[in-house]
Amino acid sequence: NQVSPFVNEPFTDFTIDTNKQAMQTALAAVKKELGQQYPLYIGSKQILTEEQITSINPGNVNEVVGYVSKATQPLAEQAMQEALRTFETWKNVSPAERAGYLFRAADVMRQRKHEFSALLVYEAGKNWAEADADTAEAIDFMEFYAREMIRLSETNIHHPLTKIEGENNQITYIPLGVGIIISPFNFPLAIMAGTTVAAIVSGNTVILKPADSTPVIAAKFVQLMKEVGLPAGVLNFIPGNGAEIGEYLVEHPKTRFISFTGSREVGCRIYERASKVQPDQIWLKRVIAEMGGKDGVVVDETADLDAAAAAIVASAFGFQGQKCSAGSRVIIVASVYDEVVAKVIELTKKLQVGLPENNAPIGPVIDQKSLDKILKYIEIGKKEGKLLVGGSRAEGNGFYIEPTVFVDVDPKARIMQEEVFGPVLAIAKVANWKTAIEVYNDTDYGLTGAYFSQNEERIAYTLENMHCGNLYINKKCTGALVGAHPFGGFNMSGTDSKAGGYDYLLLFTQAKLTSRKI
Ligand code: SER
Repeated sequence: NQVSPFVNEPFTDFTIDTNKQAMQTALAAVKKELGQQYPLYIGSKQILTEEQITSINPGNVNEVVGYVSKATQPLAEQAMQEALRTFETWKNVSPAERAGYLFRAADVMRQRKHEFSALLVYEAGKNWAEADADTAEAIDFMEFYAREMIRLSETNIHHPLTKIEGENNQITYIPLGVGIIISPFNFPLAIMAGTTVAAIVSGNTVILKPADSTPVIAAKFVQLMKEVGLPAGVLNFIPGNGAEIGEYLVEHPKTRFISFTGSREVGCRIYERASKVQPDQIWLKRVIAEMGGKDGVVVDETADLDAAAAAIVASAFGFQGQKCSAGSRVIIVASVYDEVVAKVIELTKKLQVGLPENNAPIGPVIDQKSLDKILKYIEIGKKEGKLLVGGSRAEGNGFYIEPTVFVDVDPKARIMQEEVFGPVLAIAKVANWKTAIEVYNDTDYGLTGAYFSQNEERIAYTLENMHCGNLYINKKCTGALVGAHPFGGFNMSGTDSKAGGYDYLLLFTQAKLTSRKI
């Protein structure tokens, strides 16, 4: 058909004056809109509730980003009924037509790109480049999954079945039913939109519960889907308390699947709760969980040490380390250890902490709870390693923490093993590259990893033996691109799914084979 091949949305170069001005204009415009109220979307109804979630700017806590309505269990049940009802018609809408909504939404988001990014700056505390990448990835997910659904619907061309004389055989990927989307704060646009549209374009209807700290950007996305004409009831939006409505929906007998991105603790709980077959439930629920990481960067003595140091700092401190892909531990071969550490420290000291709207490289962490947890880990780190830079709260009217580096940390130490989800980097010294790979693999997780080396034999060994879903050679371990770097990891990092990859939509469909005698 006529759909052009997928290409990634380019990132904006903010060193170009016109781009910088466009972002400043968007920031000013969005600032004027802060503090509005946002409804729930249930079927064709928009419901403003009395109790609301107050979303604040984590970089300036006196600034309210918006007031978002908060669902209760009865409202969650209403959303379920609407989603169930709408599924009966939505599942029969053609894949190409379903994809059309995503293409249109991607177009509109592209036109209003800086507006979405500006909201991310205020609500999530992202600097401009991080916000721009988040918006670009949301556009990519829509463009990519729309094409993927079209491809899946033409599956007889792409995956021909074995020909049998006298038979016409066909395989069709049909939707599952009602899905619950529980999305995270750290890519509050990209992952929220990506997980939602993957489910929708596959023919399912969904109930979206966004992260408590970033519901406004999610509301804005839901409005956008409404603007492009997505039928009411396909995407139901119910922010609220995870323990109250999240669990209710996870246990609901009519829930067909749950797509969750967030912490290991919550992911494991959802997995367990979803596994119990409830009265009147006639399927086994599917759980797609994208959990955490304790991702590492390995540097050997043949590596380009400047490139390694730059990648270590970018991987550790991008968006304040609040990425499941963050390289929060580094393993360096002894002979170059001091040199790499010195370079890392020098680069880290240059990172200024400040207000995201002023585009400071390092902004705040998301909320008080995160701040407290990260500071607790910093105290643990002080006992486990040598603090070389950072280690305290940073100034500002928000949840600011200095980028923090601990060195000489034992590979078994808690800050080498547990996910901190903040700007805290632990560095360990090892005797040689092979030990470094062993130390890298000594984790419960398996999401991203990076290996810096110029030795081909070692690289070949590493490609096979570093156990993670996204392994990067001589590059940072964050910033996976849709289509190019399908993203998702092993072990406690989740259910081995690959967002932005060629098998992702299979998770939201079931294959039906028809065989007809001719
Ligand atoms: N996909 C993001 C990255 O690669 C993390 O969610 O950094």
